[in-house]
Amino acid sequence: MAKVIAVCGKGGVGKTTISGLIVRLLKERGLSPILAVDADPSMNLNMTLGLHVGETVGNIREEAKPEKGKRPPSMSLTEYFELKVNLSLQEAGSFDLLVMGRPEGKGCYCSANSNLRERLKKLVSTYKYVVIDNEAGLEHISRQTDGSVDVMLIVSDPTPKGLMAAYRADELIEGLENEVKKRFLVINRATSEIPLTMQIPLAGHLRIDPILSEYELVGRSIFELPSDAIIYQDLQDILKKINEDCSLW
Ligand SMILES: Nc1ncnc2c1ncn2[C@@H]1O[C@H](COP(=O)(O)OP(=O)(O)OP(=O)(O)O)[C@@H](O)[C@H]1O
Ligand SMILES: [Mg+2]
Repeated sequence: MAKVIAVCGKGGVGKTTISGLIVRLLKERGLSPILAVDADPSMNLNMTLGLHVGETVGNIREEAKPEKGKRPPSMSLTEYFELKVNLSLQEAGSFDLLVMGRPEGKGCYCSANSNLRERLKKLVSTYKYVVIDNEAGLEHISRQTDGSVDVMLIVSDPTPKGLMAAYRADELIEGLENEVKKRFLVINRATSEIPLTMQIPLAGHLRIDPILSEYELVGRSIFELPSDAIIYQDLQDILKKINEDCSLW
């Protein structure tokens, strides 16, 4: 069974950066194969990881509609999804990237949807680790955490509004039917330790790291950051702490 680590939080708090850094850390620890999932329709995890976006799952779902005439009559829906989803994976040696793209629309094409979900579940089970970069906000969380999540990182900035959003996300996730085994709060762009009275365990703080914007501006991926970069050091401490609590590796 793959260990699933998902990252959520309000807009711009650092979800994609943190997801990318987790992929890097797992890769460097030799914990492959890893599947990185971009579950944000604005699709930018690929840039953080230094990859291109190929076909998205949203497009595959759309193209499978009978009226599109893309699926050969001799091919079952299961075979079609298997082929297309495998082709859509961006492979980078020790990890692959799956881009979800646009979510299911209204009037969903239901047999295709359930078939595709089954296909994705099977795909996930072939990896050791799955890292999911979620879309900002709350309303989609119940959709995106389709299946079990071992660790959900709720990211917040060090502001009262940010923490309130994290608190709401925590409450929402607690009420989900989908299984989220452990939830942790991560405070990003921290300038000092913040005293917290929230129930959700704090995994740690990430300090502001100016090198991130320098590298981003010239299109360098998260793998090119020096290993002693502040943010990477802090992220390693956070995952070490989480690992002590719930044996990620
Ligand atoms: N600790 C940090 N220090 C400096 N810059 C940071 C830090 N964390 C994130 N950033 C920068 O902040 C910006 C937003 O980060 P990121 O894209 O990871 O957030 P996000 O939560 O995924 O945003 P969105 O909700 O739009 O998907 C990026 O330019 C990133 O490099
Ligand atoms: Mg993002």
